[in-house]
Amino acid sequence: MAVRPTRRGLFGLAGAGAAGLLVGGTGGIAAAGGVPGIAGVPALSGGRDGGRQATVPFYGAHQAGIVTPAQDRLHFASFTMLAGTGRDDLIALLRDWSEAASMLTQGKPVGTGVEPDSLLLPPDDTGEAEGLGSGHLTLTFGLGRALFVGAADDAGEADPYGIRGRLPQAFEPLPSFAFDLLAPGYTGGDLCVQACADDPQVAVHAIRNLARIAAGRAHLRWSQLGFGRTASTSRAQDTPRNLFGFKDGTANLMAEDDGELAEHLWAGDEAPEWLRGGSYLVARKIQMTIESWDRSSLAEQERIFGRTKLAGGPLSGGEEFTEPDFTAPDPEQTAQPAIDIAAHMRLAHPLHNGGARMLRRGYNYVDGSNELGQLSAGLFFISYQRDPATFVRVQRSLKPDLLNEYIRHIGSGLWAVPAGAARGEFIAQALFE
Ligand code: HEM
Repeated sequence: MAVRPTRRGLFGLAGAGAAGLLVGGTGGIAAAGGVPGIAGVPALSGGRDGGRQATVPFYGAHQAGIVTPAQDRLHFASFTMLAGTGRDDLIALLRDWSEAASMLTQGKPVGTGVEPDSLLLPPDDTGEAEGLGSGHLTLTFGLGRALFVGAADDAGEADPYGIRGRLPQAFEPLPSFAFDLLAPGYTGGDLCVQACADDPQVAVHAIRNLARIAAGRAHLRWSQLGFGRTASTSRAQDTPRNLFGFKDGTANLMAEDDGELAEHLWAGDEAPEWLRGGSYLVARKIQMTIESWDRSSLAEQERIFGRTKLAGGPLSGGEEFTEPDFTAPDPEQTAQPAIDIAAHMRLAHPLHNGGARMLRRGYNYVDGSNELGQLSAGLFFISYQRDPATFVRVQRSLKPDLLNEYIRHIGSGLWAVPAGAARGEFIAQALFE
């Protein structure tokens, strides 16, 4: 099925040579690479070849890309609605994006594909994912608070898209946190799209084509590439490592934890109907001062996290998945606990946050290096939680974190992630009904 952009979308694309979108008929080609999708097979392994064999269904009760076993690569994008756009534009955009996402996640091109009817027309699909298969691509869409209340939210009157009355009570802006150094170039946005795949080109192709489809309605505000997932979201996966060399994602919410997911991840009766079965996405771009870290001793590194570097076990003893004992004394300094009182793992643990839990789904990033010859690298932290207050609580409790000496939060965003769409529907449809 070809994706037919709405009139507004066509109008917006006109300047970019959108005539190709007007072409109907047989210009499209078959599924990328001709690899048939095997619906329901989850992404469990990385690598270009591994990613070609299976698709992750786009339609379902929850959006894909949350409990889906974390793929290896990320392209995260934040979009801003253009001035003068209204409710119909937003609806049309979400409809067009949903249709395109249903094709892209099957490894198929958007619209009429890479071959328009006439050589004089630009292709609907930009073509660089031809032959790569689906790469386990998932596309997860989120809505920013400004869509409900306007960017300024000054007089408390703004309602640009006619959805102010549907704003969930819990959808408060994130407060400022100690040590925040947020740059506008990595912060906020009306809409976000998280593209995850096992092949970076598949993820980039998806964002590029969604940005193209958005023309005339929304534009790409900032985006981030990520590699080397920093969390497992399924017990079938090995725990990966972050750029500090530590296992990351050991004590995460996992796809298999049904009861816990219902309690901590998915919005329920407390949320308006359109959000039930959805969640909230927090993204934080966290710069890591890699060079200073690399000069710190192993003992210091392990003290900071409260875990051993190689095996990932808690410093109170045991293996990676042994429960930490926060009361166990340090065998060498009997007056101190084995897990430092300001260790990252202690401060982030549910025991110290009123039981709060989140599903972490971040990625490493390296944006080249700076003029001092240091890597511009870090963690693109992503977490999903039923209530943004969970993130706020844990982030506040990380104020005395020993890790803070080696990191800086430089970007931030919070989006409400609606429930999944049924076939034939579009993401967030219930918000407009
Ligand atoms: C660059 C920044 C960060 C790094 C390198 C990092 C790394 C780690 C590592 C290595 C662990 C231990 C292994 C594990 O259970 O996953 C961990 C645990 C955890 N982190 Fe972080 N983290 C960072 C930022 C954050 C932030 C911003 C939050 C949330 C506000 C957070 C929340 C957690 C939670 C909830 C745990 C599990 C604690 C437990 O239950 O034991 N982390 N992190």
